[in-house]
This record gives sequence, C-alpha cells and structure tokens, in this order.
Amino acid sequence: CGIVGYIGYRDAYPIVIKGLHRLEYRGYDSAGVAIVNQENDLKVYKKAGKVRDLENFVQKVDLTGSLGMGHTRWATHGAPSDRNSHPHSSGDRKLTIIHNGIIENYAVLKEALQAKGHIFNSDTDTEVLIHFVEDIQHETGLDLREAVRVALNKVVGAYAIVIISVDDPDQIIAARKGSPMVIGVGEGEYFIASDATPIVEYTKNVIYLNDNEIAYVRRNDLLIKNIDNTVQTPYIQRLDLQLEMLEKGGYEHFMLKEIYEQPRSIHDCMRGRIYPEQGKVQLGGLKEYTEKLKNVDRIIIVACGTSWHAGLVGEYLIEEYARIPVEVEYASEFRYRNPIISEKDLVIAISQSGETADTMAAIELAKEKGATIFGICNVVGASIPRITHAGVYTHAGPEIGVASTKAFTAQVTVLTLIAFYTAQQRGTITQSKLIEYLTELNTIPQLVEQALQVNNHVHAIAQKFKDSANCLFLGRGSSFPVALEGALKLKEISYIHAEGYPAAEMKHGPIALIDEDMPVVVIATKHSSYEKVISNIQEVKARGGHIIAIVSEGDKEVREMADYVIEIPQVSEPFVPLLATIPLQLLAYHIAVMRGCNVDQPRNLAKSVTVE
Ligand code: G6P
Repeated sequence: CGIVGYIGYRDAYPIVIKGLHRLEYRGYDSAGVAIVNQENDLKVYKKAGKVRDLENFVQKVDLTGSLGMGHTRWATHGAPSDRNSHPHSSGDRKLTIIHNGIIENYAVLKEALQAKGHIFNSDTDTEVLIHFVEDIQHETGLDLREAVRVALNKVVGAYAIVIISVDDPDQIIAARKGSPMVIGVGEGEYFIASDATPIVEYTKNVIYLNDNEIAYVRRNDLLIKNIDNTVQTPYIQRLDLQLEMLEKGGYEHFMLKEIYEQPRSIHDCMRGRIYPEQGKVQLGGLKEYTEKLKNVDRIIIVACGTSWHAGLVGEYLIEEYARIPVEVEYASEFRYRNPIISEKDLVIAISQSGETADTMAAIELAKEKGATIFGICNVVGASIPRITHAGVYTHAGPEIGVASTKAFTAQVTVLTLIAFYTAQQRGTITQSKLIEYLTELNTIPQLVEQALQVNNHVHAIAQKFKDSANCLFLGRGSSFPVALEGALKLKEISYIHAEGYPAAEMKHGPIALIDEDMPVVVIATKHSSYEKVISNIQEVKARGGHIIAIVSEGDKEVREMADYVIEIPQVSEPFVPLLATIPLQLLAYHIAVMRGCNVDQPRNLAKSVTVE
C-alpha cells in the first residue's frame, strides 16, 4: 500500500499518478486520487484494480489543481472494491483521507458514530477515522489541526495518514505511527509519500516523519508537532537515491534487473568491510557491541519471508564459525508466544524494507526483555534501523520486484561478515583460515557474474517444466534454506505449488508426491554432504521423478543421474548459498514469464507488509 501527496504550484494529478506508479511495487489491489481544484471543489476518484485502470477511469475528467493525493490499497478491512478504495471522505464531504495501517478500535468508534447518525459508504476503518475527525470538529468547534490531533490521541493502531480539506486548500496534514511517511521539501512545494521513490525526481531533501508526529504542510510553511502538541524540529536529510535505480534500465522486468545487479550489490555490501590481506572484517555499525558479540550466550534471529531464509543461512554460518547457538524464528510466531529471552541474548532482526510489522513487534518485545538488538536492513532510514541498538545495512539499493532477489544475497553476505567478524573476536577461527576465506569472499561478485551465464540454459529448462503443477526443492546443510528460497521464488511469482525440504527429510512425506510429472530441484554441490545428496537423488530417480541438479563446475557423478544439470563455480562451503541461489532465481523468473504471470507484482503479495 502506498501514499502520495502534493501541495505546491504545479498540477498535482500527474505527480500523484506517477508517484502511484512508482509505489506499485509495494503491492496493492485498488487505487484512488483526490484533487482540490481552483474553485475549491474536491474531486475523488477510485477504482479496484491497477493504477492504469484508475487512469483510464479519469481520462476525460478535468483534474487540474495544485493540491492532491493518491493511494494504492492492499485490503485489510473490507474486500478490494471501488467503494473500499481510498480516499475516503467525511459525511459532509469536506474532509478526505488516505491511510496505510489499521485502526484497531474502529468498531467501537463506528458504533458510536452510527448512533449519532453517521452513515458509512465502505467497510473500512479509514472511513471511520475521517468521520471521527469530523465529529470532533462538530462537537468541539476545534480547527482541523487540533481535531486531527485529538482524534489521533484516541485511536489505537498503526497508521500513516494524509488529510486534506476543501475549507483550507493550502494545507495537507500528514501523520504517522508505525507506518512510514516521508516529506520531500521543495521550494514552494512539498511532496508526501510512504517511501522516497515518488519524491526523488523532484527533490533530494527529505524529512522522515517519526512515530506520533503530525506534519502541517502549507505551500510555504511546514510545522511538525508530536501528538502531545509539542513543536518538533524537522531534520532534513539528503536522499542517496538515483532515479535510474527506480527504472528498469532496458530489462523486461525489475526482477531480472535485480537478479543481474547481484555482482554489484554483493560488492557494495562488502565494500570497506573486508580486508583480505590483513584478515580483517570491519563492521562500523557493530563496533560498540564487539564485547557483547564476544560474550553472548545465544543469538535469536527474527524475520519474515525471504529474510527468514537468509536467517537460516546465517544460523549455519554463525554456529559453524563463531560457535554461538543460533535460533531462527518467524517474527510473527516469536512475538506471540512469550519467548524465553534475557539481557544475555542477542537478537538479530533481518528485514529488507525495515518496515515489516511483525518483525518490528518482535524487536520491541525482545527489547522490553532486555536483549540487545541488531538490525540487518536494506532501506536506509526505515523504521527498524531506528529502533535497533546497532546494525548493518545491506546496501543492495532499492529492490522494486516484490520477489526478493538481490536483497536476499546481500543479507546472506552481511550474515557471512557477521559470522567471520564474531569468529575472529571469539578466536574460533584461525587467522590463516580467515585470510583464505576473505580472499575468496572478495571474488564472489565475479563468480556470481559467472553463475549468471547459465541464463540461457536455465531458460531452456524452464521451457520443459513451465506447465508443472508442483515442484520440490531439496538441499542439505546451508543449501536447505536455499532450497526453501528457491521454492518460495517459484511459488510466489509463477503460482506453481512448490516446497523446499531438507533432502533426507523428503523420505518422511514429500516422496509420496513423486512421479513422472514432478520436477525435483536438488542442490548437489561438491561439499560435505555431497555423497548423501547423491543417495537422495537416487531415491527420487527410483520413483520416476525428474531431477534438475545444481552442481559444482566439472561435476561428473550427478550429471549421469540427473535429467538436467546447472553448473555453478566451485567455491568453499560458506559461499555456496550466494551462488546456488542465482540459478533458482532465474528458473522461477523464466517459468513465471512463460506462464504469463505478472513477475514484478504477483497477485495478493505486498513488498512491505506493514500490517500484522
Ligand atoms: C513480504 C515480501 C517478501 C519479504 C517479506 C519480509 O512478504 O513480499 O519479499 O521477504 O515480506 O519483508 P522484509 O522487508 O521484512 O524483508
């Protein structure tokens, strides 16, 4: 879900629509705009479907006016439909709101408002909020600024909201709590958005609103207060974001572009952090916590989705090299089961967006219990890096494709660095081994480049399996989470049912599914469990399954058994996940394209899930 707002001297509509297109990657199911024109008329148009559908819908409408806002909605309360789409207006049609997040006490408020005669046109919590503001104004005679502030003090939940009023066409009111909001500062104009992507082409000066802050924005004036009515000093930051990063740059899809960016993104992630000749890892963000890392009893990794898979790779690496017990938890489970956690624990939260609601809640819980929290995030300035004690950015650059690719390999890179750094501090790795590994890690971007050369071959394999109904992904050790990630990629963008399994565990269930129609992707690189994986391949073959094997360059043994092999460069064990992931991303991508799926914006999925 996304928010865009504009107030200034230009026409708002083109800026708002373009902004909504830039935010499409976040995932949504309906879209809407509100514009106040020169006669102070408010025009609201909204539609279930894509931003394109909305554009077609308003094609013949005059939408001039220099105050406006737009929204893409990902349904929570109420199905995706025209009437549930945002913006929503007050009963007197003077106030209009767009909203990300959830108002938890909306039912109580709605009932009270209905008793007073308010009539609602949608099933949303958002419409309740704007009626509530109207009601406060009506009851108390407060001006809009105060009425919004009073209302926000009474609602429970998370929100990023933008409100405009026909009675004051030189004002946008924006507020946030738990859902991101950025204000772009221009000259005689301001831009509001749920992330910086709609803003970057107009200005690089931005203010990230903090939780519980309300911004009162006029064309030539900006005032920020917190909801207790204290004036806040805005902190203007320079955006480190280029417009090209948000465009496809000749690729057919963002996902493909991002897959191909991995040699660079992994390189950027390591830059200034490894010194192979000296056998040194330097993580500036963790410096103050080196002692903590040395003495910690246990590490708990919390994350969701792909980031959780990166966490599983991290578990292998940290346990293997730093010899600290690691548990990896789904943030959504961790937060609701009274976890046993103390000051001696270290929690590492992994999140590409830095906004995932469950991951944020897990952090807050662990913090309350006294644990130290590190963050591994991609989006600079997002919420998670602001609530953690320390952290390491992945520096993969903006990831637009909903299916995570380069953010995953960057997360794995950071976890590799943390494992080596901690191992060095704790003396669980020899200096010569560390030099050897860091020297090799330094070559990984080149090897990823090489791994990408299998693209045409993978395309041909995709052709064979594009009509499959199911697919199994198998791996052992740190290749098991890679198998999980391969399965997730395939299912989320091609809608083929796919499962990742530890190769040996297959015998306890999925083996029952295997027949001639079942492709089984096996990661069978020449490492510690190579022979064991070969036995698992035999088990699949014996039941008529088709094997697609990811193997080390030059492999002969697996080649004889497998239907298809995809070679990746030979690397030491800790680096296999970084390379084995590449062909799996390409496989999912090509199959999805061949099936005519919307690769960058798969149905029902959102890029950042800011609701629990
Ligand atoms: C959503 C996205 C996934 C992502 C997950 C966690 O489901 O579609 O790609 O892995 O959220 O997001 P985060 O931003 O916390 O890594």
